Amino acid sequence: MRFHVLTLFPEFFSSPLRQSIIGRAIEKGILTVSLHNIRDYAEDKHRTVDDTPYGGGAGMVLKVEPVVNCLEAVRKKTTADKTLTILTTPQGVRLEQKLVEKLAEYQELIILCGRYEGIDERIRAFVDMELSIGDYILTGGEIASLVIIDSVGRLVPGVVGERDSLKSESFADGLLEYPQYTRPVEFRGMRVPDVLLSGHHERIREWRRRESLKRTLERRPDLLEKAELTEEDRRFIKELTEKD
Ligand code: ADE
Repeated sequence: MRFHVLTLFPEFFSSPLRQSIIGRAIEKGILTVSLHNIRDYAEDKHRTVDDTPYGGGAGMVLKVEPVVNCLEAVRKKTTADKTLTILTTPQGVRLEQKLVEKLAEYQELIILCGRYEGIDERIRAFVDMELSIGDYILTGGEIASLVIIDSVGRLVPGVVGERDSLKSESFADGLLEYPQYTRPVEFRGMRVPDVLLSGHHERIREWRRRESLKRTLERRPDLLEKAELTEEDRRFIKELTEKD
């Protein structure tokens, strides 16, 4: 899968994209991230990318021409039949795991990093979708782009090794993950639950499911409305809520 990132700060990406799982996937060629400096597409000799807002006011506004020049140059190079152009902005639809899964179906994603000071409104006509990573304001879209690359990239086959299963993690079935432990069995009086030491796979599976349900009910009850639940799950949740 290929990501194109249009940004004023391409160097922002160099370290994060060299680390860990995503770094390895890029090294192996499973993921490709092409960085495009919007400034290279400015039309004047000063390479101007922003200007003062019409109507007055503080701050500078990202100009439309360098962005659209850059976008059109990138689109000319793409060979995939399925591409999507995303603008990162707090005004966009909120990124959630279901949307991450949909984005992972594309062969190429073009991500335009917004700027917190503002972008020329006409830029919006050239993107397919506006995306927010949450209800808070970042200084620019670069971190949001990395969040998209990381969350979408890890779903591409071969990126996450078989040992790091994607199946049992938080949100895979709409629930939060159960508690995990590793050695030692006891740390400062805190013991690993006996069931996990029992070697009894069926009991362990049941304990994990129940802990997942308990944790989701405590921390994110809103997720239970959309989660995939069995009859047994519902009975257990009813028991938990009746206890309080
Ligand atoms: N740019 C600034 N804040 C943002 C956010 N929360 N999500 C996406 N892009 C942003």
